[in-house]
Amino acid sequence: MKQPQNVYDNLEFFEKYNEMRQSKLNANELIEIPEIKAMLPNVKNKTVLDLGCGAGGMSRFFAEKGAKKVVGLDVSQNMMSLAKQLTTQDNIEFIQLSMEQLSKIKQKFDIVFSSLAFHYIENFKKLIKEISNLLNPGGVLLFSQEHPIATAPIFNDRSASSYIEVEGKRYYLLSDYNNNSQRVLNWMADSTIKYHRNFSTILNTLIENKFSILEVKESQPEKNAVKLVSKYKYQIDRPYFLYIKAQKAEEKK
Ligand SMILES: C[S@@+](CC[C@H](N)C(=O)[O-])C[C@H]1O[C@@H](n2cnc3c(N)ncnc32)[C@H](O)[C@@H]1O
Repeated sequence: MKQPQNVYDNLEFFEKYNEMRQSKLNANELIEIPEIKAMLPNVKNKTVLDLGCGAGGMSRFFAEKGAKKVVGLDVSQNMMSLAKQLTTQDNIEFIQLSMEQLSKIKQKFDIVFSSLAFHYIENFKKLIKEISNLLNPGGVLLFSQEHPIATAPIFNDRSASSYIEVEGKRYYLLSDYNNNSQRVLNWMADSTIKYHRNFSTILNTLIENKFSILEVKESQPEKNAVKLVSKYKYQIDRPYFLYIKAQKAEEKK
């Protein structure tokens, strides 16, 4: 099997990423986390799998909210060590494993959650099929990812602008939208690989795997976030995150 990218174990990348996350003024804290938390099903007494859990912030949140058992999974050793250092609850288990190897997990879950990690996965069909296998009937998958209008352009030139400005308003460039493939970006480190998929591919993959779509949301920063970080005003009309909540079919009686 092709080794998955493990860019969070590149020390320079890991340090820059953690610095960004610790600032508390980043888009995760001010936009993505509040928006995805508002979509969460009740986790009380549920078993939860947190895919690409990073430092485990959401895994700890599920345990605080009464989840019976939480498994946090991440490919990065750096992330797993940090998650273990920060965690005291004994019903959380962290496993260093890639999402490409989900068939190694033998337990089933009521909820599969993932925050901003699916755009690192090349084979989305396999991922969704394996998530379906890990969910109990009626179980819920809730995930966020970078929005397809943000991941679309095949554009990696630091010296060029990704927008034009007319009378103080930004008009972003959008290209390559229907070209579902790898994007190589200068994000935190040179040559970070992410995968772009258009919206219909994402939804149809879920539908083909017998998921019902329960809710879809596109990010829209709150006034307070824009007050704290003025550049987030550009995200009001150009969503940066996509959220999908879907349910696995119940078993037929
Ligand atoms: C943007 S971070 C998000 C971390 C966490 N979900 C959060 O919101 O704080 C993406 C995470 O996905 C993990 N990741 C990337 N590719 C992965 C893969 N193939 N399998 C498992 N985890 C992966 C990274 O190591 C990283 O911790």
